Amino acid sequence: MARILTGVQSTGTPHLGNILGAIIPAIKMSNDPENESYLFIADMHSLTQIKDADKLSQNTYATAATWLAFGLNIENTVFYKQSSVSQVTELSWYLSCFFPFSRLELAHSFKDKSDRLEDVNGGLFTYPMLMAADILLYDANIIPVGKDQLQHIEMTRDVASRVHAKVGEIFVIPEGKVQKENMLVSGTDGQKMSKSKGNVIDIFQTDKALRKQIMSIQTDSTALEAPKKWSTCNSFAIYKLLASDSEIAQMKQNYEAGGYGYGHAKQALFELICNKFSEQRKRYAYYMNNLEEIDQALEFGAKKAALTANAVLKRVRKKIGY
Ligand code: ADP
Ligand code: TRP
Repeated sequence: MARILTGVQSTGTPHLGNILGAIIPAIKMSNDPENESYLFIADMHSLTQIKDADKLSQNTYATAATWLAFGLNIENTVFYKQSSVSQVTELSWYLSCFFPFSRLELAHSFKDKSDRLEDVNGGLFTYPMLMAADILLYDANIIPVGKDQLQHIEMTRDVASRVHAKVGEIFVIPEGKVQKENMLVSGTDGQKMSKSKGNVIDIFQTDKALRKQIMSIQTDSTALEAPKKWSTCNSFAIYKLLASDSEIAQMKQNYEAGGYGYGHAKQALFELICNKFSEQRKRYAYYMNNLEEIDQALEFGAKKAALTANAVLKRVRKKIGY
């Protein structure tokens, strides 16, 4: 039995790229009876960026509602908010005291901004120690992350070994796991879909707004009557991630035959998204209208998480002399 743990920052409403690339695969993994999974919303990490209380809370609800709408099962997954198990900040402090300043200076999360030091808060600088505490506090074995997070996992292993070298064994040493097979979803401009690029598809908007976003997908100026190339079309690139084999084959034919415009292709994509995610869109709306149910789900998880956290922290305190 492996304990899998991962955190997601709550920086906005998850988009189609987050859903296909991270959320659906993580839920699949959590349903594997061989795994025990911990999944949390890293709302304390978000504070390094977001200082607006309403926004912070709204993002956390939107993120949680997405996971719940896509079928995360709170019985088989420990699903919680980082800030609800504040023991993590205690462990983070201990870890910081064992980790050299000069190593923290090498973290990408800090280094990327180190040319504008006035924008770097202390939280951003010690971000990797809070992340290490997120992981070590729960005796996690496997940490599924994006490539950009591997350095933080290395720092987690490093700080755990440094603590062990000084006071003896306490922690489970985790391993990072990059999901190579996960798909890369392109945005409305053909580049990687990302909140920061403004090219996202947000499936949780109203039909009208969603349709508008899909109609804004960039396509070339081939005339309606002319045959079109599906292989380079941004709308087709998204369509093929969601459609069945026969729908894909039909769509390729439509492009090649001519007389089928990009407007038609985008309309088909819009309808496909509406059909495919109709249940999830309804459930998302339900949760966003019943925030107390999200709170209850997260509190249920926080109670389970705290049991593990307290046990690990007890081991730590004893070894370091408290
Ligand atoms: P964003 O780039 O929109 O800020 P994040 O960096 O918060 O997204 O990513 C959250 C998760 O979603 C990560 O696991 C990341 O690998 C995944 N993800 C983000 N964008 C995409 C995409 N376009 N295609 C596939 N997966 C993605
Ligand atoms: N830093 C991660 C990110 O930005 C989120 C995160 C916080 C995390 N704590 C974690 C991921 C612990 C895995 C394990 O994506």
